Amino acid sequence: MSDTNMQSGHGPAVQMPAVPGNLSKSDAYHEAARGIIPGGVNSNVRLGGWPLCFESARGPILVDLDGNEYVDYALGMGPAILGHAPSDLIAAVQASLSSGQLFAGQHRSELDLARLLQRYIPSAELVRIGMTGSEMVQAALRVARAFTGKNGFIKFEGQYHGWFDNVLVNLTGTPGNGVVPLPVRLQTKGQAEAGTADTHILPWNDLDVVERYLADRGDQVAALITEPVMCNTGVIPPRPGYLEGLRSVCDKHKVVFIFDEVITGFRLGLGGAQGKFGVTPDLSTFAKAFGGGFPLAALAGRREIMSLFASGEVNHSGTYNSNLVSIVAGIATLEQLAANDGEVYRRIDGNGIALIEGMREIAQRRSVNLQVSGYGAVFHTYFADDLEIVDYASHWRADATRQAAFVDALLPLGIRPTRRGTWFVSGAHGSSEIDRTLSAVDEVLRNGLN
Ligand SMILES: Cc1ncc(COP(=O)(O)O)c(C=O)c1O
Repeated sequence: MSDTNMQSGHGPAVQMPAVPGNLSKSDAYHEAARGIIPGGVNSNVRLGGWPLCFESARGPILVDLDGNEYVDYALGMGPAILGHAPSDLIAAVQASLSSGQLFAGQHRSELDLARLLQRYIPSAELVRIGMTGSEMVQAALRVARAFTGKNGFIKFEGQYHGWFDNVLVNLTGTPGNGVVPLPVRLQTKGQAEAGTADTHILPWNDLDVVERYLADRGDQVAALITEPVMCNTGVIPPRPGYLEGLRSVCDKHKVVFIFDEVITGFRLGLGGAQGKFGVTPDLSTFAKAFGGGFPLAALAGRREIMSLFASGEVNHSGTYNSNLVSIVAGIATLEQLAANDGEVYRRIDGNGIALIEGMREIAQRRSVNLQVSGYGAVFHTYFADDLEIVDYASHWRADATRQAAFVDALLPLGIRPTRRGTWFVSGAHGSSEIDRTLSAVDEVLRNGLN
């Protein structure tokens, strides 16, 4: 059992991971699944990599069909901030199950959750609840168009805002050459090119570019959407003053300023990135961590913009919005995150920083160009010499082959970061997982990557 499991009471003892060896049951599963589910997966993000099929998870540990155990830093791609199957969250959800699923109408816990969101999120004068980050982004863009009477929006190269046509652009491949707006790069066959007609793509973290662009085209731009910390291409902090600068240039040109906090929300702290950096957007989107692993999302923002939903002028709908289980999960997660003055965040940060510093020390000792960027709660590992990573173009110059080899070498040692090299830390990780992870990193770097 990890130290943190004992502190927070996350279920029974978890054995430390055995070194994965046999994957025959996972292999057999995938063979069968590929015959009926395209690619054997239900999200394209899961195509490729080790064909694992999981049996269960508890605390920081995932168990596959063959009984192999992994220290999990993917956490469902971020949501499981309290770890897997945390006892208080599961108990709250179980208690709600006998009260029904969804009512096509209201129930009191919606208001309880909305009040919590309003309390913690600086920009949340009003909130709407949904199910996924992708749809909340679309609601944000729609209401911004209605509010401003303009159609275009600025989206930054390398940032991910969901899988819908208008935002699924410029996420892979050769970076733009600096001429703005950057040419649209569609990301999937079947994507409607016409759907990107209002998408203006700029490089991130360069305020001058945005100021010049809006001085020229501000009359066409309804919204500017940004991940406040770029978490879908590396984990890249905003330059000092960048978010503040975006705030004021958006004000100047009457552009709705949107933070996509689907990853940073309730991960970088109760106030998300807006709380951390002290910059308040007009609208912000939340998902992942605030549902603790259950499907839950929210759009929060200024009263005068969000009120357009109240009058019915702007449509935001969803059969499953505010279903009982998701709402109860959200409330229980926020209660856990806020308990003891945010104690879980101090633990996550401490353990994440121990990992970051430990990896840097190993890299230096082994003379390997492994770099780590980001924060205790979410960070990124990459391989590069003397490279200042500030945006998609600079991130693209890092050695992606070594990054993939690093992740692939860690997995058989029972350590599972995300494929792209982003590591999420939960309140269930503790010192024994940190020690095990660092010794695996040391072993991988000692053995060499190529
Ligand atoms: C910043 C950001 N926005 C939006 C989304 C889309 O959220 P969902 O997968 O819940 O639709 C993601 C998903 O990873 C994300 O990271």
